[in-house]
Amino acid sequence: MHTPDDARRELESLLDFYLESGLDCFLEEEAVDSFALSEDLARQQQAMRSAAHSRGMPTLGPAQPGGRPLPDTRSTHGAQGGVGPQGTQVSAVNAPVPGGTFADAVVPDKEAVSSAREAAGAAKTLDDLKQRLSQFSGCNLRLTAKNLVFADGTPGARVMLIGEAPGRDEDLQGRPFVGRSGQLLDKMLGAIGLDRSSVYIANIVPWRPPGNRTPTPQETEICKPFILRQIELAKPDVLVFLGAASAKSLLDVQDGIRKLRGRWMNFDVGGRSIPCVATYHPAYLLRSPIEKRLSWRDFLSLQAKLAETANR
Ligand code: URA
Repeated sequence: MHTPDDARRELESLLDFYLESGLDCFLEEEAVDSFALSEDLARQQQAMRSAAHSRGMPTLGPAQPGGRPLPDTRSTHGAQGGVGPQGTQVSAVNAPVPGGTFADAVVPDKEAVSSAREAAGAAKTLDDLKQRLSQFSGCNLRLTAKNLVFADGTPGARVMLIGEAPGRDEDLQGRPFVGRSGQLLDKMLGAIGLDRSSVYIANIVPWRPPGNRTPTPQETEICKPFILRQIELAKPDVLVFLGAASAKSLLDVQDGIRKLRGRWMNFDVGGRSIPCVATYHPAYLLRSPIEKRLSWRDFLSLQAKLAETANR
C-alpha cells in the first residue's frame, strides 16, 4: 500500500535529485521570471554583438581582465535556444549571474592562469586578495555561483584546512564548510579541542561548480595562484588537506587519498616550509562512516603536531 510516508519520501528523493543536479533556483524566495530575463540578456548580447561587429571582431562579450572572451559558438535553435519576440536571440542558459552574464565567459587558457598569478601575487593582505579574487574574471565558475566563498575562521590561526570547492550551502552563505560536511568537520575539530575560531578554512576553488560537479583541471589551475597566495598570507603553522582533490592539486602528486592520508610532509610556499597532512574529506566520511576511525587518527596526529610545533 502506498502510504503518506511513502509519498513524502518520494517527494524528498525528487527534491534531492533536483538539488544534486544543481537545480536549486526554484527554491528561491522570490519567483523569477526567466522569460523576462532571457529577453533582457538577449538584448544585452545583441548590443554587444553589434558593438563587436562594428569593431570587426567575430567574438561575443567585452574583453575581460583575466581572460579572453569566448567566441559565440552557441546555437540559437533547438534545446540551446531559439528566436524570441521581435526576432531577439534567446539562449536557454541564461540565469542571472553575480559576476557577469554568460557573454562574459572567457577561454580557460594559460593567459587566464598567468593573469591569476599576477592578481594573486600583487595582493598584500588577505583582504586585498579577497578583493582581487572578487574582481578576477578569468574563471567562468563565478558566472554560475551566487557568492565568492573565500574563507572562514581566523586568518593567522595555527591550522589552515583546505577543501576542494564550495557546495550549495557554502555558495548560498559565502562561507566554506557550512553544510553537512562542515558540521561533521566542526565535530572533528571539537574532538581535538579546536573550533572555527582556532582554524582558518578555504578551498582550492572559491566558487561553486554548477551542480556540485568536480572542478575541471583548468578551473583548478586558474584558481591555484589564489589559494597559494592565501596560504602564504595566512601563514599557518600546519596545513590540512581535506580530501584527495585538495591534496593532489596542491602537492602535485597522483597518489590516491588512501596512500596520502596521515603522512606528514612539507609544503613549500613563499619561502616557508609548512608541515602538512592530508585526511579524508568529511563528505566522504558521511558516505563511509567506517573510515572515521582513520580520520580520528589523523586528527590526533594533527593535535600532536600542534603540540610539537607550539613554541617554534
Ligand atoms: N566541500 C568542500 O570541499 N568545500 C566546502 O566548502 C564544502 C564542501
